[in-house]
Amino acid sequence: MLVAIDGPAGAGKSTVARAVADALGYTYLDTGAMYRCVGLRADAIDLADAGRLDIRFDGDRVLLDGEDVSEAIRTPEAGQAASRVATDPRVREAMVGRQRALIADGAWVAEGRDIGTVVAPDAEVKVWLDADPAERAARRGIPVEDLLERDERDATREHDPMVAAPDAVHVDTTGLTIEEVVAAIVALVPRTPGAS
Ligand code: DC
Repeated sequence: MLVAIDGPAGAGKSTVARAVADALGYTYLDTGAMYRCVGLRADAIDLADAGRLDIRFDGDRVLLDGEDVSEAIRTPEAGQAASRVATDPRVREAMVGRQRALIADGAWVAEGRDIGTVVAPDAEVKVWLDADPAERAARRGIPVEDLLERDERDATREHDPMVAAPDAVHVDTTGLTIEEVVAAIVALVPRTPGAS
């Protein structure tokens, strides 16, 4: 079972996806963190070797070649670097391959830009999360111009651009509480008969 949550920066994907995973007892996958790790190493490696990076999730922590980079990957610079390396098809191929391998078994809530379109077009539930640019920029604590620059790059790149899957349910989080968004998404998930 997979709940795919895609959408632009600052739409609330991480907070919401984590909470949906908690509510359902599923495992959360933050695919943006993987591109952020590659972004951190962009100057140090040949991007053709991105697949050799050892990226691991340990609870809420992100480990890159054994180093805890959980905070380092969250800076605005790391976000822009991630967006840049994410245009490289070799990086995408490596990351998408890993993401598919991870979600092959078990029940997952995966969030990113291309989960419902590329990583898992067969996902049982697909959500496109969006919000007003001003609210998204405020949530990220970055100027709206920087946010729109990143959106533009993510949406217009040649390989796997950020786009809503045709069958995704659109949820606009502007003015909604996290609880309201989580409840709306949980309600989309078919429950196994007899499960609580
Ligand atoms: O969701 P985020 O802000 O952590 O993502 C950082 C960047 O990584 C984003 O600007 C584009 C890229 N990304 C991607 O191309 N595909 C994904 N599935 C997730 C993130």
